[in-house]
Amino acid sequence: MKLPFVVVFAFILPLIRAQVPHWGPCPDPAVQPAFNLKQFMGRWFEIAKLPAQFEKGRCIETNFTLTTDNSIRVVSSEKLKGELRKIEGTGVIEDMKNPAKLGISYSYVLPYSPYWILSTDYVDSALVYSCTDILRLFHVDFAWILGRTRTLPDATVEKAMNTFAKNNIDVSRMIPSKQQGCDKTL
Ligand SMILES: *[C@@H]1O[C@H](CO)[C@@H](O)[C@H](O)[C@H]1NC(C)=O
Repeated sequence: MKLPFVVVFAFILPLIRAQVPHWGPCPDPAVQPAFNLKQFMGRWFEIAKLPAQFEKGRCIETNFTLTTDNSIRVVSSEKLKGELRKIEGTGVIEDMKNPAKLGISYSYVLPYSPYWILSTDYVDSALVYSCTDILRLFHVDFAWILGRTRTLPDATVEKAMNTFAKNNIDVSRMIPSKQQGCDKTL
């Protein structure tokens, strides 16, 4: 099927604005061996993310709750202009042979987006990666460092960045998330 250029461009443009696309297909990073979904549940704070979204909110956190053995409820929240905003989604293990490769969707009309747990110790930090191929020509990706606390030691963040890099994920544009002054009431 050959799509008219205009259609392709209209589809790609919002993604380009959100992120610098990389040529070629998605990398194929190693994921957390023997991933335990149950242990991953609970509250995670966003420590750093790719791409930079300067205009976005702060105090971003996500609360995962198991709904069945392989599906979860996902509630993410942020503070934006003094307001607490929440979005709710669902997540699934799409292939039980690859339990660390979750799919998450924030809307019934949207397909599941990849949400791969590259590495986690369940109690301190987690590395999450999401990548989508576009027309097999290039890919756009997202990456997060999550913490069980609002901040993580520099060494942990550095190690996380190295892990991404070792898996051919370009995190040079990753920026720290704002988690200051979050526990005060709005
Ligand atoms: C996370 O979600 C569970 C289930 O909905 C709820 O009981 C718990 O209080 C939530 N935790 C936070 C920190 O929001």
